[in-house]
Amino acid sequence: MKHQMVIVLDFGGQYNQLIARRVRECGVYCEVKPYTTPLEELKGMDPIGFIFTGGPGSVYAEDAPLCDPEIFNLGVPVLGICYGCQFMAHTLGGRVTAAQADTAREYGKTKTFFDTNCKLFRGLPAEGITWMSHGDYMAKVPEGFSLAAHTDACPTAAICDEIRGFYGVQYHPEVNHTENGVQMIRNFLYEVCGAAGDWTMGDYCRTAIREIREKVGSGKVLLALSGGVDSSVAAALLAEAVGKQLTCVFVDHGLMRKNEGDEVEAAFSRWNINFIRVNAETRFLLKLAGVSEPEHKRKIIGEEFIRVFEEVGKEIGSVDYLVQGTIYPDVIESGAGDAAVIKSHHNVGGLPDYVDFKEIIEPLRMLFKDEVRQLGRELGLPEYLVRRQPFPGPGLAIRIIGDITKEKADTLRDADAIFREEIANAGLDTEISQYFAVLTNTRSVGVMGDGRTYDYTLALRGVTTSDFMTADWARIPYDVLDRISVRIVNEVAGINRIVYDITSKPPGTIEWE
Ligand code: XMP
Repeated sequence: MKHQMVIVLDFGGQYNQLIARRVRECGVYCEVKPYTTPLEELKGMDPIGFIFTGGPGSVYAEDAPLCDPEIFNLGVPVLGICYGCQFMAHTLGGRVTAAQADTAREYGKTKTFFDTNCKLFRGLPAEGITWMSHGDYMAKVPEGFSLAAHTDACPTAAICDEIRGFYGVQYHPEVNHTENGVQMIRNFLYEVCGAAGDWTMGDYCRTAIREIREKVGSGKVLLALSGGVDSSVAAALLAEAVGKQLTCVFVDHGLMRKNEGDEVEAAFSRWNINFIRVNAETRFLLKLAGVSEPEHKRKIIGEEFIRVFEEVGKEIGSVDYLVQGTIYPDVIESGAGDAAVIKSHHNVGGLPDYVDFKEIIEPLRMLFKDEVRQLGRELGLPEYLVRRQPFPGPGLAIRIIGDITKEKADTLRDADAIFREEIANAGLDTEISQYFAVLTNTRSVGVMGDGRTYDYTLALRGVTTSDFMTADWARIPYDVLDRISVRIVNEVAGINRIVYDITSKPPGTIEWE
């Protein structure tokens, strides 16, 4: 069955995949295409609507990203967001200028007033907070357009031409900070584009399986399995698509949590798949010896993983494809396109330049964490697996600050196990999205019994989040923190002080390295 489709035309903004995800959330299929895509190709895709994304450019700059203005003559509705809105206004005869210092330039949460007669805002409150991030503004709106929202500083926060189905907003409806933002996108899809809501995660799953089969044919595939949610969902998807052509390889780099290697092996040995465990602790620890710079650690681990997979591939023979459970936040934080590198996720930015496989397949690359969980359920994975908290590919290497030794890894494993046990005992394990211990590189003086100690400080981290792109620190009750602290200091040698990390993301990241 052919689904209705919306095209998200990418002008280089930070939130483009988030827009795509919002459209999917509204039950409409969508694809992100670069703004340079030829008009004929876009037309051939037969979209029911276009969403033009934001972007760092200015429409009046010489090198401004512009697409064929004929796009406005296709009779297809358009929603322009931020730069996308300015591009529409500029192309259709309006005037966009740099905002004066304290007038219409706006960043962050902004009180906004809406005309609820406009289809975009129908059924929504007339006043609300929007997330602004623009230095340009529309000084004159094009003919046929009317003003649909304003703020104290900007009279043109939203514009619309309801006859042609053109809508533009200066703010970002796709981010959580904009109140009712998703509802505005939904209104555009359903009230303006006439969407039927004919797309589900089940469709995504079927399409992904079909595409994998087409690509792989009768070839052999290796899958990098860590036992975490992402790679387990990728494994279930691939198993469904290519069955016994798939071999799942679990590389135990010696930096897993307590007993985790054995648990992963026990869980996946029960599946009807080819499963191999490679014990590579010595090899990884040797490569990491003396290394303390976080990006350096990540690159070493990324490369070593690939070398192990290549070796297993050679043993099996004629393996063309390597599958990784990379998800969208991994891609964006590793610096996709013009975005800054926050950290090289081992399966993206940590990859070596040369990889001895014909291709790396990443079927979850465009999904957010909660969508991956949904897909896992679609594939029939058990709830305990789908709800597992994430564990980063580089493992404890990025939770041991400074250089890594086996002793430190063992110390951290014991402390982390107590933390997790007490969180579960307190019934908080489903409330906190991710929680773990970090072995800091700081030692401090303590007193135990009658003696002086000079041991490591352990940091506890717990966050709540839905997409892991932003996160809030978890409000763990003091008495639970107290129990954890007492137990760890008493039971784990080498640790004499516990601190709790109260930094949200941003400005912190979830992991410490
Ligand atoms: P940060 O620390 O960037 O983490 O806020 C966001 C989420 O990603 C996980 N993470 C990783 N996952 N490979 C992974 O598979 C990696 O290299 C990696 N680094 C961070 C992290 O645990 C959190 O859930």
